[in-house]
Amino acid sequence: MTRAHNFCAGPAALPQQVLEQARTELLDWQGTGMSIMEMSHRSKEYVAIAEAAEQDLRDLLGISDDYAVLFLQGGASQQFSMIPMNLLKKGETADYVNTGQWSSKAIAEAQRFGNINVVASAADKNFSYVPVQSSWNESKDAVYLHYTPNETIGGVEFPFVPQTDKPLIADYSSSILSRPMDVNKYGLIYAGAQKNIGPAGIVVVIVRRDLLGRVSGLPAMLDYKVHADNGSMYNTPPTYAWYLAGLVFKWLKAQGGLEGIARANDRKAEKLYGYIDQSGFYSNPVNKADRSRMNVPFVLADAGLDKQFLTQANDARLLNLAGHRSVGGMRASIYNAVPEAAVDALIEFMQDFAKRNG
Ligand SMILES: Cc1ncc(COP(=O)(O)O)c(C=O)c1O
Repeated sequence: MTRAHNFCAGPAALPQQVLEQARTELLDWQGTGMSIMEMSHRSKEYVAIAEAAEQDLRDLLGISDDYAVLFLQGGASQQFSMIPMNLLKKGETADYVNTGQWSSKAIAEAQRFGNINVVASAADKNFSYVPVQSSWNESKDAVYLHYTPNETIGGVEFPFVPQTDKPLIADYSSSILSRPMDVNKYGLIYAGAQKNIGPAGIVVVIVRRDLLGRVSGLPAMLDYKVHADNGSMYNTPPTYAWYLAGLVFKWLKAQGGLEGIARANDRKAEKLYGYIDQSGFYSNPVNKADRSRMNVPFVLADAGLDKQFLTQANDARLLNLAGHRSVGGMRASIYNAVPEAAVDALIEFMQDFAKRNG
């Protein structure tokens, strides 16, 4: 068996060691005679697995007890509505920064629940940059400020954390755990699991406890307080995805934690952008200071070669390099679990393709 190099934007590559451990434990988890998939979520064995995963995530990100850590379902997309439902009372306003397709979706959902003030938008330049904060038009009475630190489709990443005295809310779906961060700057962080956390089916929400219960009368499943009060076990959680996330957190600790993985991520991104910029054949449209270290979109000098590029890349076992269906071109997602060797193989292929077609 040889595993291919997988550059998928999500569900994305998982660390091979994690998959191997899951395989070893699949039929009989630590002598219990059952798979984790077959265990009650209320059993002491499973509760221990769930608690260890939460503790490892708290250790990695330095999350204090002022925050609840929730393992929920519905994806990051459900958070687009849960956030305004839980935080905005009738007639209240929230500020949103629009840096691409994911922020746009978050804005569209939030508009169902309150007054949404878009403080800045990068739509004027096809979402290829992050507007500097001094240009933002923030409202005085906003209840919170929402932004998307990493736009997965456009490949745009904030090089700064916005300054605000309001609770700061961030969709970290595609860059959580890629480098150290200060959770204390945030009111709420959310991230779909299927990039840097684990398999699809789970979304992690880190929410400051004083924000819980701000709006009452919500459906139980959409109320953060209900989930926080029940340790994310108000109903049956996605047990296997939670367990796999726990294995990924342990793997991350073994990589030297977030400092260690950040060094690897920086090296991978520098190599790939470095090659693209000097190639004369490929280009990346994003403002250099705002380039994502997780998602690297690029186009070929001649879009007529796109199909050929993708077919030949596939033959070379370099998978999932097509750009998002809405933008075309190429995109290499180089999340935590994508090894540097995969980036080296991609660059080698790109060089060879350019030589043959340039
Ligand atoms: C930044 C960002 N936000 C939200 C989403 C939506 O996530 P989900 O499909 O888990 O709802 C994605 C998915 O790729 C994403 O990249």
